[in-house]
Amino acid sequence: MNDNLASYSTFAPYYRTLLSHRSHAEPIARLLTELLTPAHHRLLDAACGQGNLSYFEELPGRTVYGSDGSHHMIEFLKADPTLASRYEHVIECEWKALPSLFRAHGKFDAIFFLGNAISHVRNLDELRQIVADCRVRGLNDGGLLIFDMREWRLEDGGSGLTEPGRTENVKRLILREEPGDVCLQIFDECRYNSDHQIIDYYVEEDGKPIAEAEFSYLMVRPKEVISLVESVGFEIRYSGKPDNYPYFAICGEAIT
Ligand SMILES: C[S@@+](CC[C@H](N)C(=O)[O-])C[C@H]1O[C@@H](n2cnc3c(N)ncnc32)[C@H](O)[C@@H]1O
Repeated sequence: MNDNLASYSTFAPYYRTLLSHRSHAEPIARLLTELLTPAHHRLLDAACGQGNLSYFEELPGRTVYGSDGSHHMIEFLKADPTLASRYEHVIECEWKALPSLFRAHGKFDAIFFLGNAISHVRNLDELRQIVADCRVRGLNDGGLLIFDMREWRLEDGGSGLTEPGRTENVKRLILREEPGDVCLQIFDECRYNSDHQIIDYYVEEDGKPIAEAEFSYLMVRPKEVISLVESVGFEIRYSGKPDNYPYFAICGEAIT
């Protein structure tokens, strides 16, 4: 198991609480509604996590598969009947094993990796392999690959790419909840190496540390990712930042 997946095991119990404070579902649902036509019927949410982005309410009449490499994230999804009912099948599958999922379940009309998920790849070669597997083995002709990532930038005076507006390595309180007797707080702290942003999350209950998880995100300019997607046989249908959405989204259509 890679390090990010191990971190999702630790962080899974707090993930939904964290996302409940960030409302991303509506802008991404709007984008998917614009991009998908009735011909895009079989969909794969290849980083479904806990199913938190509830975009499928907006996509009736489709057959939606979910897959994710984290057993724990999927367990939380399956435990929520409303979210679980949006998926026809939920399959535990790391991205490197997607070709076997395609062999077992057939090709799709659209494959998504949403919520800054694809940035968890270790390097560009890994990203290229996933995109190529989707193109060659996973998508029907005319099928769509849709994913999003941060719009990493070189800030004025900076020496490398960073998350816009977050060049300093500061620890921030991102969530404080006191629903009952217990006070839950989640902090995050980011740092950078040459091509990754590394974020540590710290969870505290009544001031006592109860969990810690580290995630890494590959930083690559959207322009470079667009070229990569085109180079394996996709035509770009959309690239940009949807209104009120924190990530840069790219949609490529599989062309023959
Ligand atoms: C930021 S979460 C996004 C989840 C969901 N799309 C959402 O927006 O709430 C990223 C997801 O990618 C999954 N993931 C990360 N690396 C993976 C890998 N190598 N193979 C399969 N899934 C992976 C994680 O388990 C996690 O559920």
